[in-house]
Amino acid sequence: MAGNWKMYKTPAEGKTFVRSLAQRIGTVEHAVVVVAPPFTGLSAAVDAALGTSVSVAAQNVFWDEQGAFTGEISPPMLTSLGVRWVIIGHSERRLLFGETDQGVARKVRAALDHGLLPILCVGETEEEREAGLTEERLASQVSKGLADVRPDEAQLLTLAYEPVWAIGTGKTATPEIAQEAISFVRGRVAAALDPEAAQVIRILYGGSVKPDNIGELMVQADIDGALVGGASLDVESFAAIVEYPR
Ligand code: PGA
Repeated sequence: MAGNWKMYKTPAEGKTFVRSLAQRIGTVEHAVVVVAPPFTGLSAAVDAALGTSVSVAAQNVFWDEQGAFTGEISPPMLTSLGVRWVIIGHSERRLLFGETDQGVARKVRAALDHGLLPILCVGETEEEREAGLTEERLASQVSKGLADVRPDEAQLLTLAYEPVWAIGTGKTATPEIAQEAISFVRGRVAAALDPEAAQVIRILYGGSVKPDNIGELMVQADIDGALVGGASLDVESFAAIVEYPR
């Protein structure tokens, strides 16, 4: 269960959040709980998460270790803070900041090379769905995004299927639509890596996940968890998602 805070929360707010969340959920055995603060909040969040059931993700990473890349953050910069996870290729990065499938693949490779666990996001836009291009888009994002990954690395990898039309819109994909797309994504992982990798890899659903729809999403056969935006900004609602009815 991963919370993507996007461009919300100062370091102090993030620290308070992580402390309260950790206290509220206690020891969690059925799920891995991850929060993704903005870069400036990572250090404070990692400190607050020490010794708790919460771990910390960055929202992006660059592929080189160092160099003349103004504004970028490298994998060793994240691992040296104690960050374990990184979201890669979120649709906001792709649509607003020009990220390409090739760049996403390089980021996934660089993350794995430095011991960061990637959460690779894929998903179609509303126009693509309406034009019947959903599968084509997902197939291309999965095969290109995983181009440099080996099948034996599947257990280190998490995919997130996030239909762009469901992000921050309140329009959740129905559990059936989410299941259908995620089952398709799993099939593409089998083609890109191998069938065993497709079973091992974790696939999350993201897009307007809330405490009141998490249960019906999680009963779907291929949905292993959720990437949560808006509802992860509030301790009570994120805790309710982590503790979804099982
Ligand atoms: P949302 O965002 O839960 O606010 O729809 C999901 C995401 O962008 O990861």
